[in-house]
Amino acid sequence: MSLAHCYFSVSVALLVIFLLINPAFSDKKTQEMIDKVCRQMEEYGFCNQTFNENLKTKSTNYVDLTQITIDQVTRNATNTYEFVLQLLQNTSIEALKNALRVCESSYQVVLGAFQDALRSFNQQDYDSMIKYERVTPKAQGGCDACFNTPPIPANPLADRNRQIRILIAMAIVTGHELVTL
Ligand SMILES: *[C@@H]1O[C@H](CO)[C@@H](O)[C@H](O)[C@H]1NC(C)=O
Ligand SMILES: *[C@@H]1O[C@H](CO)[C@@H](O)[C@H](O)[C@H]1NC(C)=O
Ligand SMILES: *[C@@H]1O[C@H](CO)[C@@H](O)[C@H](O)[C@H]1NC(C)=O
Repeated sequence: MSLAHCYFSVSVALLVIFLLINPAFSDKKTQEMIDKVCRQMEEYGFCNQTFNENLKTKSTNYVDLTQITIDQVTRNATNTYEFVLQLLQNTSIEALKNALRVCESSYQVVLGAFQDALRSFNQQDYDSMIKYERVTPKAQGGCDACFNTPPIPANPLADRNRQIRILIAMAIVTGHELVTL
C-alpha cells in the first residue's frame, strides 16, 4: 500500500469513527425535517436541541421524530407529575394546594392521552394518535391558568409547564407531518 493510500484509509476510518460516535449529528435532510417542525414552535432552540439530543441515528424520518416527541412528553410529564405530588405533600397553603390539584389532574390527562397515543403510534394508526394528542394542550394549559389567580404568589411549575407545552406542540406538529405524508 502506498503512503498516500494509507493516509487516505486512515482518514476514512477516522471519519467513520467520528460519525459513529456522534449520533446526535443530524444529516441535512433530517435537519430540514427538524427545522420544518421547530420553526413553528415558540422556541426554536429548545425544539432543535431536544430532537438533536435524542436522535438515534443521524439520518432519520418523521416516524423516528414522532417517537422522540412521545418519549419526551411522557418522560417530562411523568417527572412533573411526581414533582406536583411532592409539592402537594410539602405545602400547607390552601390556595396553592388547590392549584396543584388542578395540575395533578392536568398531568393525569396528558399522561393518559400520550399512553393511548403511543399505542396508536405502535399500531401505525397515526390518525388516532393525533386525536388522542389533540386534547392535551388544553388539559395542560389548565395547570398554568390556575396559577394566574391571586393570592398564589409564583408558579413553581412555570418552567416545566413551558417545556412540556413546547414538547406537546412538537408532538402534534410532527405527528401531523406523519399523517399528511
Ligand atoms: C440545530 O441544532 C444543530 C445540532 O445541535 C446545530 O448544528 C444547528 O446549528 C442548530 N440550528 C440552528 C439554526 O441553530
Ligand atoms: C424535559 O425535557 C427536556 C428536553 O428533553 C429536558 O432538557 C428536561 O430536563 C426535561 N425536564 C424534566 C423535568 O424531565
Ligand atoms: C418535599 O419535602 C421533602 C422533605 O422535606 C424534600 O426532600 C423534597 O425536596 C421536597 N420536594 C419539593 C418538590 O419541594
